[in-house]
Amino acid sequence: MFFKEIELRNFRNYEYCKETFHPAINIFIGENGQGKTSLAEALYIMCLGRSFRTQKDREMIRFGEETAVVRTTVFKNERNVRTEIILNRNDKKNVKINGVRKRAVDLAGHILVVEFSPDDLKILKEEPDRRRRFLNREISKLYPNYYEDLAIYTKIVAQRNTLLKEGAADPSLLSVWNEELVQYGVRLIIRRKTFIDRLNAISSRIHKEITEGKEDLQIGYDASIPYDEDPEKIGEMFREKLEASRETDLSRGNTSCGPHRDDLKVTINGVDVRRYGSQGQQRTASLAMKLAEIDLMEEESSEKPVLILDDALSELDKKRQKYLIESLTGTQIFLTAAAVGEDILSHFEERKIFEIRDGKILPYSE
Ligand SMILES: Nc1ncnc2c1ncn2[C@@H]1O[C@H](COP(=O)(O)OP(=O)(O)O)[C@@H](O)[C@H]1O
Ligand SMILES: [Mg+2]
Repeated sequence: MFFKEIELRNFRNYEYCKETFHPAINIFIGENGQGKTSLAEALYIMCLGRSFRTQKDREMIRFGEETAVVRTTVFKNERNVRTEIILNRNDKKNVKINGVRKRAVDLAGHILVVEFSPDDLKILKEEPDRRRRFLNREISKLYPNYYEDLAIYTKIVAQRNTLLKEGAADPSLLSVWNEELVQYGVRLIIRRKTFIDRLNAISSRIHKEITEGKEDLQIGYDASIPYDEDPEKIGEMFREKLEASRETDLSRGNTSCGPHRDDLKVTINGVDVRRYGSQGQQRTASLAMKLAEIDLMEEESSEKPVLILDDALSELDKKRQKYLIESLTGTQIFLTAAAVGEDILSHFEERKIFEIRDGKILPYSE
């Protein structure tokens, strides 16, 4: 699949633009603050209806405007798929696929986008919530059911926490919430475990290649509920843990165990990368994980995802830039940068180059 065309109205600093893309490589060159990441974001929201840089849709609406519109045409299975997202300042967003009203989650089945930015190189250094967000987002793109389960689970945690904060938690009422948590939580845990195992297998292989066999990367599931092959068992353990932490939860007013507390455990040669890894190791491991994600998406969906490399090359040394570029084949790429060297340009023969200036996409003169 690939994006054929985009149309933006009052999206970030774009007042209006319409542009046609190359099915292979699209390069956007522009100085800081001109609109490169905003364009990346407009493409990205077509995947799950959400941005990678804000939780608040309204931030994407051009200052002073009430609505923003993003339309794209995607070519997939020999057909055009038209998608439209209208963001409203004071109301929910509207999503349409081929002119028919849909939910944002329905986009996931049509458009698969993987985004890679310098921030992704920090994913293994940051706090657990950053890695949870990564897991949740990537799994949701592949399995819309996960996205829906997660939304429900998150609501249940919030409601349970409200109850705990009120302090008066009646044990039987709390048990009802616990059961709901267990039901949805177990589904999340199983999906995550499968995803992480596959991600691990691919990341390890890629990491070995980048480090020329010197390092062994392992990504595991650091879950607050012990994993078991039998979902019933996971449920039981989750239930027991919830019961056991009742007093703590009541005194803190929150839910101390469950998938909303999970993390990834990442080691290189057996040593925890987050704690003891050098910055270089953390970045290489993050890169391997991100590249693995692209492979995994492709294997799972039997479609190559569209790749957005937003300023992604700027933070990599020449060797890793080369590795990254050479590993990307046969997929549509959107690459943004302040400047692109001849070595990179010469690698991409099939391409279209644009300039981004002040919220406009312009032809680039080489
Ligand atoms: N909602 C908005 N309305 C208008 N302008 C915005 C909005 N959000 C961000 N901007 C502006 O858009 C410009 C482009 O930002 P960005 O796409 O991040 O630039 P780049 O990635 O090229 O550095 C910035 O100058 C920013 O201040
Ligand atoms: Mg940017």
